Amino acid sequence: MSERNHFYITTPIYYPSDNLHIGHAYTTVAADCIARFKRMQGYEVFYLTGADEHGQKIEKAARENGKEPQAYVDQIVASIKSLWDTMLITHNDFIRTTEKRHEAIVQQIFQRVYDQGDIFLSQYEGWYCTPCETFFTERQLAEGNCPDCGRSVELIQEESYFFNMGKYAPRLLEHIESHPEFIQPESRRNEIVSFIKSGLEDLCVSRTTFSWGVPVPFNNKHVVYVWFDALINYLSAIGYLQDEQQFRKFWPADVHLMAKDIIRFHAVIWPALLMALDLPLPKTVFAHGWIMLEGGKMSKSKGNVVDPRVLVNKYGVDAVRYFLVKELSFGQDGMYSEEMLVTRINSDLANDLGNLISRTTAMVKRYFEGIIPAPTESGALDEELRGTARTAFQEATAKLDRLDFSVYIQAVMKLVARANKYIDETEPWRLAKDAGSLPRLGTVLYNLVESIRIAVILLAPTMPTLAERLNQQLPVFSDPSRLEWNQAGEWGLTPASMSVSKGAALFPRIDLKTLVEDMTTEHNPAENAAVADKEPKSEDKGLITIEDFARLDLRVAEVVECSKMEKADKLLVLKLQVGEKQHTVVSGIAKAYQPEELIGKKVVLLANLTPTKLRGTLSEGMILAASSEGDDHLEVLMINKDLPSGSRVK
Ligand code: ME8
Ligand code: MG
Repeated sequence: MSERNHFYITTPIYYPSDNLHIGHAYTTVAADCIARFKRMQGYEVFYLTGADEHGQKIEKAARENGKEPQAYVDQIVASIKSLWDTMLITHNDFIRTTEKRHEAIVQQIFQRVYDQGDIFLSQYEGWYCTPCETFFTERQLAEGNCPDCGRSVELIQEESYFFNMGKYAPRLLEHIESHPEFIQPESRRNEIVSFIKSGLEDLCVSRTTFSWGVPVPFNNKHVVYVWFDALINYLSAIGYLQDEQQFRKFWPADVHLMAKDIIRFHAVIWPALLMALDLPLPKTVFAHGWIMLEGGKMSKSKGNVVDPRVLVNKYGVDAVRYFLVKELSFGQDGMYSEEMLVTRINSDLANDLGNLISRTTAMVKRYFEGIIPAPTESGALDEELRGTARTAFQEATAKLDRLDFSVYIQAVMKLVARANKYIDETEPWRLAKDAGSLPRLGTVLYNLVESIRIAVILLAPTMPTLAERLNQQLPVFSDPSRLEWNQAGEWGLTPASMSVSKGAALFPRIDLKTLVEDMTTEHNPAENAAVADKEPKSEDKGLITIEDFARLDLRVAEVVECSKMEKADKLLVLKLQVGEKQHTVVSGIAKAYQPEELIGKKVVLLANLTPTKLRGTLSEGMILAASSEGDDHLEVLMINKDLPSGSRVK
């Protein structure tokens, strides 16, 4: 058997100066998504993350917390590791720069580069930004402050070792030019090219004014500059100078992933050092954008951070990961607010994906006693659905390969939307009325299950528990923990005659109310109550005033769940989303509508009707419908434009 292909992907090793936030989760989830995707394709993957534990910034943070640096980082690193467990990150190794296996390699590399004359001793005089751990010249400063983070810088004057980086500039430029995939996206490449062309100075690679670092092997007054130390993690973790066999398997790295704040270190200093070591350069250095809050970039030192653990506890790991991956728009900045997260979960996951799964499962149960029928009678729309599935597979593969996360998700969600539309077009509830249409009905349901199976495989790198949870209702996978990517590229792999069971909703809708409550007092419930308490005016001639009409609280309501009322052939029970509220309504429309037809539709609700119990269920309002005399023909009023639920009808 031939050897498997190898794939090596890394995240930055984060500073354990404080607990990590959703910005770090963003990179780590994205890299995890790629690692899982490549494993599903059969690659042997090495996914590396870790902690950057040396330097002035860490020493200072430890001191401010009254701790020794090692004890300080130990505690934060433990919490980082538990965060990655919570987020189901599948890194193969977690490197800490205070580990012996790393420090020894840093020293050997420093020695070698010194011995070959690329590192030399001189005097440094210039500016230093501790939060960024970066040296600046006077003219690089922005109004006297750090040009990257805007904070104040300190003047340092000390004896230092320098790395003769400029020597490698021509080769580096040449490499960037002949390898367009080396720095991604392109905007970053242009930025790096002009930075190199503006002239590379010798890089200061040691410090003497503090001691929390790797000692320079031949001069223990100096510790190695933290970035020189940190970048080497990508080599030390895979066994450079220690396990040559493993090292040769994985080097050069396929992707170093990070945000744009640190691309310069990875696209200038790092390749120059690798050239000095005669090692091949990583294939791609990719910088995604920043995740921003309304007040600007999230940052540990600004204190405006969002703890991903809290979000995972509230919304589940799949949903939080989905949001992050969807928000990662090829190199662009993304926005974060909890409201955006909830809105995204409700629209994409509860509505589109969740409804597709629950409608399909419910119909297989109702029409085929829970057994997936074999497809025997194809129809006009089937080829289009299959075509959409094929495109979703091809697009998802291509976009993940170029780290275009957002478009990858879009490609999959197009299939989900197409499948939902296929339900509306094929009208299974109509087919079910005619025994002669059963073979066609069976095929329609089979095709829906196939679409779900394919979408779930494609979403698996993003939502690691989805397949397992789906399988509890629709057991389409023989082993949901071993999905193969290419199985999403083939139509017809769902075994017929498996049986479904109704489970809990995979993505329950989240009530925005609890979120909004503390943010706004706009809705004033007292107002409604006051109106309701007034005695109705008695009017003759059957005319009413506009004020009378205004007493009706008519609202656009979205049907989020719908089912038949047991032992009542005329009644449906609907769960309606009305802005942030939910109403349960019992409605006598079962003769005209199947529950699946209504899910996802927007209807008009009389929301302030006195609640009453109907067959034991409390009905909170009434939905509007037009009907002919005797209710033979009946049509529920629907809103077709994309008005948000809760909108007033007046
Ligand atoms: O720079 N949006 O560590 P660091 C997106 N130790 N990504 C964000 C983010 C945000 N708001 N905030 C952080 C260091 N990140 C060095 C790295 S590597 C050899 C040494 C992510 O803790 C993003 O990946 O400051 C960014 O590049 C990284 O965290 C910076 O992490
Ligand atoms: Mg930083």
